[in-house]
Amino acid sequence: MLVSAKEMLDKAKAGHYAVGQFNINNLEWTKAILLTAQELNSPVILGVSEGAGKYMTGFKTVAAMVKAMDEELGITVPVALHLDHGSYEGCYKCIKAGFTSIMFDGSHYPFEENLAKSTELVNVAHGLGLSIECEVGSIGGEEDGVVGMGECADPNECKTIADLGVDMLAAGIGNIHGKYPENWQGLSFETLDAIQQKTGAMPLVLHGGTGIPSDMIKKAIELGVSKINVNTECQLSFADATRKYIEAGKDLEGKGFDPRKLLAPGTDAIKATVKEKMELFGSVGKA
Ligand code: G3H
Ligand code: ZN
Repeated sequence: MLVSAKEMLDKAKAGHYAVGQFNINNLEWTKAILLTAQELNSPVILGVSEGAGKYMTGFKTVAAMVKAMDEELGITVPVALHLDHGSYEGCYKCIKAGFTSIMFDGSHYPFEENLAKSTELVNVAHGLGLSIECEVGSIGGEEDGVVGMGECADPNECKTIADLGVDMLAAGIGNIHGKYPENWQGLSFETLDAIQQKTGAMPLVLHGGTGIPSDMIKKAIELGVSKINVNTECQLSFADATRKYIEAGKDLEGKGFDPRKLLAPGTDAIKATVKEKMELFGSVGKA
């Protein structure tokens, strides 16, 4: 059931668990995530970066695919179709295409400009019943061309953006996109705590969910994180399972080269990763 992310995140915040955002890249990815959410009776957010949207032909194609798949698979758990790290223009394209949720990532702008653009987009999104995520501070590393310096967010700036009525706030707290380097200092729980004190009931978002140790994930949820984004980890498990299938020569046996067989181990690996994360985040049975 396609919905905005507002209700599922407010419930997660109140219930002290987090909803996973899993990024999609194609039909297999989308189907694996939707089926796992349904099987575990968990709410879920499908994230679409601008790069992935382009790869899948465009946001209209993505929205049409997700809507049709949601219906034909008989998905009854809440599913939000969410633009990930959207530009100002990208937000308008996704609103037009029929997404149910958007993220405006204005973290690279001077704060006043981020605030002005976020204000406008919050009003537009809410006027149309969509949920909206904004970002303060930045997430380190790179994801689909979005590069961040990784500076921790200023809790006062977080409050100013939260006061616009955003549905969820992404705040840099030392988190990084992609694999974490060996010398990573860990999440700044001090910053997270200060942000949570200032922003109250508003759901906080933890980006860069790949490879964060379980105890840090649990502590982040205790301190108000209600949405956790995972992308790279599904890509790694898909690639690993596909490589094993090919290295074992299975693509050469029988009709193993048929894409429906060739892509199956990778798709199953995505399902296993999503299941593991939903269990860790505590969203199982919360639909
Ligand atoms: O916006 C998406 C994410 O923050 C995913 O990060 O690729 O490190 O899991 P990740
Ligand atoms: Zn991110």
